[in-house]
Amino acid sequence: MSQTTPNLAALLPAARGKLVVEERAIPSPGPDEILVRNHAIALNPIDWKRVDFGIAVSSYPAVLGSDISGVVTEVGSGVTSFQPGDRVIGTASDMSTGNPDNAAYQTYTVLLASATAKLPDAVSFKDGAATVTAVSTGSLALFDVLDLPTPDSDTKPSPDTGILVWGAASATGAGTVQLARLAGLKVFATASPQHHARVRSLGATAVVDYRSPTAVDDLAAAAKKAGVKVIFAVDSISTKDTLPLVVDFLAKFDGPKKVAHLLQWPEGVAKPEDVEAAWVQGFRIWGQRRDLSVLVFNNLLSGWLENGDIVPGAVRVIDGGLDGLQTGLDVLRKGVSGEKLVVEL
Ligand SMILES: NC(=O)c1ccc[n+]([C@@H]2O[C@H](COP(=O)([O-])OP(=O)(O)OC[C@H]3O[C@@H](n4cnc5c(N)ncnc54)[C@H](OP(=O)(O)O)[C@@H]3O)[C@@H](O)[C@H]2O)c1
Repeated sequence: MSQTTPNLAALLPAARGKLVVEERAIPSPGPDEILVRNHAIALNPIDWKRVDFGIAVSSYPAVLGSDISGVVTEVGSGVTSFQPGDRVIGTASDMSTGNPDNAAYQTYTVLLASATAKLPDAVSFKDGAATVTAVSTGSLALFDVLDLPTPDSDTKPSPDTGILVWGAASATGAGTVQLARLAGLKVFATASPQHHARVRSLGATAVVDYRSPTAVDDLAAAAKKAGVKVIFAVDSISTKDTLPLVVDFLAKFDGPKKVAHLLQWPEGVAKPEDVEAAWVQGFRIWGQRRDLSVLVFNNLLSGWLENGDIVPGAVRVIDGGLDGLQTGLDVLRKGVSGEKLVVEL
């Protein structure tokens, strides 16, 4: 199919370089892929880490980014569940494939159909793009690493089963809180006080300020008062400052525990024998856990967004479209609080 808009891309010319917008060929979808004309691109911390540390960059010039929303313009020969004109969101797989056609920072992106969800009309492109990594990472943390029953499963956790989400104001933390609630878990969380009301509205039973010296004791007391045993944790921050507190918190409950950490377990942080911990591997959503991707992106996410079961967080639009991505990376590198940075095309 011929496309009327050229494909402009924000190219990273070299390691630690600045993005430059140039035209590249409009990609074509393979049999199990779709081509999307992007309308919003959401930024993730991994994007600036790829610039600074060369993570998951196979060659230069590179195209970064994984979270998009837009309109399908072409579908691969084996795709039956999407058609041109569909509004969609999806997680772009270039960190797995090494193919810049599968990256987000451009006008057109080739997505795996399995990693794409229809976007309800009531949800804007910018809000849709802002939910993508939150949902994919939260799903991997809960249903891959922690191996908890998915929300559609007939198996439900017992009503007194709890989970700790450390850093619930982060994009991934907020997604994890909502998915954990949908999976029937009681959620206990940490966040800065200005985000407590929102984190509670997403489904947390109790939230404490992670900067409080009594955060761990206060949260454990809240769980015990609610009659909940917290034996699972997702640490959305996963630094040498947060993981010891996560471990301390879990130590207040009997029995074996499981922790999903979003960054590599930091050197020097003790891991108790009764704690099984594993690093969430984001790329598994495009490969080993394509089954989970199909379940969440193809089967569940659209309905969750339609019904308000998954609510996008605060979005800050960075002006300039593709030209704004460099500013976005610079802002994100300094850190954000409870908001997702997005550019609109
Ligand atoms: N392994 C994977 O597959 C995977 C996937 C996605 C992301 N990640 C990584 O996971 C991390 C989070 O990503 P993200 O996109 O969710 O980040 P984000 O939204 O940019 O995180 C910002 C939030 O972090 C919170 N925060 C900072 N320090 C904290 C602390 N000590 N305790 C609790 N909360 C703290 C802040 O909370 P307040 O506003 O409440 O202060 C802030 O709102 C990044 O390092 C990212 O690279 C890994």
